[in-house]
Amino acid sequence: MTDRSFLAIVLAAGEGTRMRSRLPKVLHEVGARPMVAHAIACARAAGATACAAVIGPNAEAVAKVAEKAGVEEVFVQTDRLGTAHAVLQAKPAIARGADDVVVLYGDTPLVAPATIDRVRAELAAGADVVVLGFHSPAPTGYGRLLTEGGRLVAIREEKDASEAERAVDFCNSGIMALSGRHALSILEAIGNANAKSEYYLTDAVEIAHGRGLVAVAVAGEEEEFLGVNDRVQLATCERVFQARRRAEVLASGVTLIAPDTVFFAADTVIEPDVTIEPNVVFGPGVRVASGARIRGFSHLEGASVGEGATVGPFARLRPGAELGRDVHVGNFVEIKNGKVAAGAKVNHLTYIGDATIGEKANIGAGTITCNYDGFGKYLTEIGAGAFVGSNSSLVAPVKIGDGAYVGSGSVVTKDVPADGLAVARGRQTTIDGWAASFRAKMARARAKS
Ligand code: UD1
Ligand code: CA
Repeated sequence: MTDRSFLAIVLAAGEGTRMRSRLPKVLHEVGARPMVAHAIACARAAGATACAAVIGPNAEAVAKVAEKAGVEEVFVQTDRLGTAHAVLQAKPAIARGADDVVVLYGDTPLVAPATIDRVRAELAAGADVVVLGFHSPAPTGYGRLLTEGGRLVAIREEKDASEAERAVDFCNSGIMALSGRHALSILEAIGNANAKSEYYLTDAVEIAHGRGLVAVAVAGEEEEFLGVNDRVQLATCERVFQARRRAEVLASGVTLIAPDTVFFAADTVIEPDVTIEPNVVFGPGVRVASGARIRGFSHLEGASVGEGATVGPFARLRPGAELGRDVHVGNFVEIKNGKVAAGAKVNHLTYIGDATIGEKANIGAGTITCNYDGFGKYLTEIGAGAFVGSNSSLVAPVKIGDGAYVGSGSVVTKDVPADGLAVARGRQTTIDGWAASFRAKMARARAKS
């Protein structure tokens, strides 16, 4: 946006008791991505020049997720003494003196980067404290923004609010920006004389106002600022996230036959002219190229689908499944860590794990790669144009050469040369008239008894 430097501080030390979970609250996922990673991704996308997170004690898992999402510095808030106290844990980062300091909450995952731009634009225009707010028909539980003549004069927490203040419908989203020049001195002036004896970040407004500094509120839509304190709110966030993604995906030129039944992850990439049938679930790390069709009831995770490929119905692509152009993967097929080259077909009832399949190979119904012996995982390599007959077990490590055939029902334990044939099953024995004489014998036995 501007060339002003911008420190983002993501608060992630909430205990989240109302989640009734062993998992820290901010690691609960929306769109298969931890909530705290959403907040960090938002800050990064909005152009944060530095990004810090404040986490609780014994929260190594949160630190790991935060660092992976793009945070450079993690601070630990040992005692949970309130949001202002949490922000002050990042004092070394604040003291470095960014132009803008923006506080985001790790439990508020739906904020758009453009909204952060709007807040920073107010700082650039001369405000010292900017708070993002929204009007809500059900404001209970949120801090209320108290304004006077276009200025924000205070934020009152529900528990500290008078009846008149509780009637205010303008709510605090939790996102606050402070000019770097005043941030530390304002934060350090915040006390804890309130109903919860906590250091409230929200008091920054009253302090700034009292010093003759300028505090303003910027209004947005409630939906964007949904905060999560319990699982009902988590489910609401998920619903909003999915609705948004479906709308974006449709607008980008993807067909969703029944949009409400398709679930995306935050990082799902679907190119235009893909068709997605009803009841498809995308876990993290999926990319689908143009012209592909994902048929009903398929589940994809960590997978890429090439141009023009078809997947499903009822297919499962697990991490490392890479399908080339025009590949067909049919019903009840599971692929994990398997590269399937252009034009190959794996159409029915098959498990492909730790394998490569060459171009235009045909994998018959019921083929299983036996990739695991209880200790290690082994590779199966199937060459271009190979034909694996139905109901075959390929016991890895094993190679099927280019153009080779495997007879149906084989258990293949040795490599098959290019253009060769392997048949590894009991030979068929046929006895003329056996069934008729068997029936006659049994009928005689029954008549006697
Ligand atoms: C907070 C705001 C409220 C706002 C609401 C929006 C304050 C005092 N209140 O209330 O005005 O309407 O969010 O959702 O800021 N956290 C810490 N350390 C702490 C306390 C909190 O890191 O000591 C983190 C939490 O992980 C969470 C965020 O700060 O991400 C907000 O804390 P929470 O306790 O959920 O605040 P609310 O009561 O929801
Ligand atoms: Ca909250």
